[in-house]
Amino acid sequence: MINSKIIGWGAYVPSRVVTNNDLAKLVDTSDEWIVQRSGIRERHIAAPEETTCTMSVAAAKRALEQASLSVSELDLIIVATSSPDHFTPPVSSLVQHALGAKDVPGFVLTTGCTGFVYGLVTGHQFIASGAYRNVLVIGVEVLSRFTNWQDRSTCVLFGDAAGAVVLQASTQAGGVGAFELGSDGTLAEAIIMPAGGSARPPSLETLQNDEHFIRMNGREVFKFATRVVKASCDRVLAKAGMTYADVDHFIPHQANLRIIETAAEMMQLPLSRFVIVIDRYANTSAASIPLALTEAIAEGRIKSGDQLLMVSFGAGLTWATALVQL
Ligand SMILES: CC(C)(COP(=O)(O)OP(=O)(O)OC[C@H]1O[C@@H](n2cnc3c(N)ncnc32)[C@H](O)[C@@H]1OP(=O)(O)O)[C@@H](O)C(=O)NCCC(=O)NCCS
Repeated sequence: MINSKIIGWGAYVPSRVVTNNDLAKLVDTSDEWIVQRSGIRERHIAAPEETTCTMSVAAAKRALEQASLSVSELDLIIVATSSPDHFTPPVSSLVQHALGAKDVPGFVLTTGCTGFVYGLVTGHQFIASGAYRNVLVIGVEVLSRFTNWQDRSTCVLFGDAAGAVVLQASTQAGGVGAFELGSDGTLAEAIIMPAGGSARPPSLETLQNDEHFIRMNGREVFKFATRVVKASCDRVLAKAGMTYADVDHFIPHQANLRIIETAAEMMQLPLSRFVIVIDRYANTSAASIPLALTEAIAEGRIKSGDQLLMVSFGAGLTWATALVQL
């Protein structure tokens, strides 16, 4: 049996920090409201010259360096994002070129905030089948470009970041284990960028109506997330014949601290078992889990051999949960 081990990790966040008080100058909100309702204190926002590609490359280089792997050894690049540089060409090709990964195949995977875990599981399939040996999985977003900075119900929630891991084929135990991917399109309208796609191409009207920005039914997403996190973790652990006690660290998607607190309560687990970085970075969508992973390893909190349970939810609405032994 071929396992997929994470042999490298890295993240990149833009240097510009925007605090809640900064946002209170733009929209009718306050630091107190944002902290109480979401746990977010600040977020990093990309500089005008930064793009999804440049941020992906920065995170990928760190992950490759950590893995001591040269770009020429890569077999596949998966870029999970909902905010690519362009609709076409695929940002994966821009990343491949910028990395100097000559002729390496790649593709974009778009499942909203679950993109990284979907990408990890997808990369694992290429490795487990024997097709590829080294797969780069990137989760990256520059959602600040698709945020309506006059809509207080969304603009306070998101941040920009990139995270990457290198997956490598291994005959040793560990790596990506049991997983569950899901989607419920009945809730598709809960997080939507209404225009810009084939259903509603760009026009003067769509621009005037702010239809190229993210719209969200926060309450609907909140209810969905609290329902799905525990249920999906339970199913994945059951598949693996494991219990909560076997998990060293839960790495949840960082959308709202209250969602994580509710899930922890439902699971009857202390919050200390969860990796939390939302206070500093807000919701970085597909980047949130590899960013949290990288931070927790850098802090010495997550160590080689630890059993991790990554659980995510997002646009679609989708969910994705995976056990990973580092
Ligand atoms: C968005 C979210 C923080 C809102 O929190 P909430 O407690 O559900 O708040 P509500 O949406 O019920 O709004 C409560 C009030 O606060 C107001 N409000 C919304 N955003 C505000 C802000 N930034 N500052 C101040 N007030 C705000 C609303 O207008 C509403 O006012 P009203 O009662 O006069 O109508 C929360 O629903 C959430 O995090 N949902 C999940 C979103 C998510 O995770 N999305 C990404 C998924 S990947």
